[in-house]
Amino acid sequence: MPTRLLVRGLAQLATPSPTSLPARGRDLRAVEVIEDAYVLCSGGTVEAVGRMRDLRALRGDVEELDARGLSAIPGLVDCHTHPAFGGDRVDEFSLRAGGATYEELHAAGGGILSTVAATRRLGQDELAARVERHAGWMLGHGTTTWEGKSGYGLDRDTELGSLRAVRAAGGSPTWLGAHAVPPEQSDADRYLDWAIAEVLPAAAELADAADVFLERGAFDAAQARRYLEACRAAGLALRLHGDQFTESGAVPLAIELGARSIDHLEATGPDGVAALAHSDVVGVLLPASALFLDRPQPPARALADAGAAIALATDFNPGSAFTTNLPLVCSLACTQLHLGPAEALAAMTVNAACVLGVGDRVGRIVPGLRADLVLLDAPDWRYLAYHLGGDVVAAVIGAGRPVFRR
Ligand code: NIG
Ligand code: FE
Repeated sequence: MPTRLLVRGLAQLATPSPTSLPARGRDLRAVEVIEDAYVLCSGGTVEAVGRMRDLRALRGDVEELDARGLSAIPGLVDCHTHPAFGGDRVDEFSLRAGGATYEELHAAGGGILSTVAATRRLGQDELAARVERHAGWMLGHGTTTWEGKSGYGLDRDTELGSLRAVRAAGGSPTWLGAHAVPPEQSDADRYLDWAIAEVLPAAAELADAADVFLERGAFDAAQARRYLEACRAAGLALRLHGDQFTESGAVPLAIELGARSIDHLEATGPDGVAALAHSDVVGVLLPASALFLDRPQPPARALADAGAAIALATDFNPGSAFTTNLPLVCSLACTQLHLGPAEALAAMTVNAACVLGVGDRVGRIVPGLRADLVLLDAPDWRYLAYHLGGDVVAAVIGAGRPVFRR
């Protein structure tokens, strides 16, 4: 089988082209567009990119893919998902449609804890099969690199099983050990003592990062600090769910601890925006989650204008964002967050890759980087945002091989 793949005749190719990583400010808008383009993939990486008229005859065995009428962008990177869960929350979705709020359902023992019960009932094989299925959904939307959190086990076996399942399905596992206090624990502090002593040592071997839900009704800033400091000492990168409903100290904590990202930010005010803009913490925006819960959208335009590094992700989970569709998130970014298509593209490719620590390997179509491409059924790459809820993904190339075709 040839190890080289020539994608030829592309109507357009578009790749973010920032001068430094992660992209911010004017660099966030830097996109290189090539008309009538080709991409040559070799041994899993991009060998060359250019215009068809500059393509020289190739020696040796090369597989060809006729991409006339299609546009290429980098494989999408979903840097925030919760794919390891059992059951669903369709009843809760219906209750919310009738007026109940997400926080009320959470306080009444529904919400996250109902998914914890359903996830604990699955065996390891079934849990792994669910994550595999969800990874397939992501691929069909053009996602070639993704992060997956635990956090619906909250006991040792189910948490570690979730991390293994994410890794086995090709994702980057994040230990969300501090997602909620499980019912068998008396309070948040005792639960964290137990999780740090009993789960962290093994979780640190399996995961790339740790995450905490810092929020009214979940974990407070002091508890989040204790959990994250222990995780950092065990070698994990740090993430935070912060400012989803209230500003509870997540932004200063993320900056102080050198977290890779703070995610949500729907409640972040001007001080938080300014602080993030002067930091190395990436602000991960989750517009599908705000839409799904009918909550205010995060201050994306203010963050971008202030020079903050931003990323976009789905937040795929059964409660607050039941979608794996990054092209839909791109549409929301352009219509609801007032980001330009180029900014949104960088936010869900190269910058999302930076959140996962792989910005030097994926997220751009550049020689030497992994040959992950999405071929859009569109004459212009901006259909990624423009074709609202459309079947815009025609095919996906992963590490230089065709891995999905509609
Ligand atoms: O990112 N906010 C906390 N965690 C998830 C939701 C989890 C759930 O509702 O099951 C989120 O929105
Ligand atoms: Fe989340």
